[in-house]
Amino acid sequence: MKKLVAALAAAAALYSFSASAQDYPTQPITIVVPFSAGGPTDTVTRLIAEPMGKALGQSIVIQNVTGAGGTVAAGQVAKAEADGYTVLMHHIGMSTAPTLYKNLPYNPLEDFATVGLVTEVPMTIIGRKDFEPNTLQELVDYAKANKEKVTYANAGIGAASHLCGMLFMEAIDTQLTTVPYQGTGPALTDLVGGQVDFMCDQTTNTTGQIKGGQVKAYAVTTGERLASLPDLPTTTEAGLDMQVSVWHGLYVPAGTPDDVVQKLTAALQTALKDQNVIDRFAELGTTPVAQERATPEAHTETLSSQTELWKPIIEAAGVSAN
Ligand code: MLT
Repeated sequence: MKKLVAALAAAAALYSFSASAQDYPTQPITIVVPFSAGGPTDTVTRLIAEPMGKALGQSIVIQNVTGAGGTVAAGQVAKAEADGYTVLMHHIGMSTAPTLYKNLPYNPLEDFATVGLVTEVPMTIIGRKDFEPNTLQELVDYAKANKEKVTYANAGIGAASHLCGMLFMEAIDTQLTTVPYQGTGPALTDLVGGQVDFMCDQTTNTTGQIKGGQVKAYAVTTGERLASLPDLPTTTEAGLDMQVSVWHGLYVPAGTPDDVVQKLTAALQTALKDQNVIDRFAELGTTPVAQERATPEAHTETLSSQTELWKPIIEAAGVSAN
């Protein structure tokens, strides 16, 4: 009798679980953003959240959980219920954190299920408006000559701005003082205000200030110039051996039912075809990824190959955190 009751209870639980996965979503979904509101990750997330919510028939709430270069938010989502109501937006930092952090409390490849890639965003090296150097070569010379006083703003170890700064310092063989923020939104505010000297940040955050002349732009970190900032040389053109661009993707905790992930992926793909998203991304110097990259398979492949790619580069730079 006891066995029959247990079997009936298990069947009921299974039924209600698969029914709830089938009905998903029945309540608002939270997308956790690992950096400050108003910064590049937040901007991209807010742009896709609206059409994703429409496609899913539910509202999407954005929660900014900052700290430790994005690892606080990722750690929180790794431990969340695997029910599709807590989603993480994260970027290239998911592939660098395992090498950067000695005690990372999650494994990006094992503790999450991937939903799909979202964008790949170029970065720009920019300085405060009245910073002495006017070109990238002048910036390199100035930084080398004034390394004890030049300040570089970033969003903490694990942030894209940290990675770009690390590559810059490696390329010029000079360590500079870094000033960490909870995101590059507030870092850019301080750069415009003249509190820090320079930074490297995604075009989704810097295009407006570059065009408005509130900051000095030195270079774009991709192999080709950008249509949105055609006068800005590439790092390679300007003689610096470094390239980096920032890919973003959506994650849910491992164990989230496949049909829930599929619904999120379908909504992401719909959002990336939305004309307003395409237009706003273009204004900000980026594009939505192709539909076949907005899939769990392509996203997992990118996460895994990028983790391999950055590992020896970070190890050679000798950067690490606890
Ligand atoms: C942000 O959203 O603030 C940035 O993505 C931070 C960074 O990674 O540099």
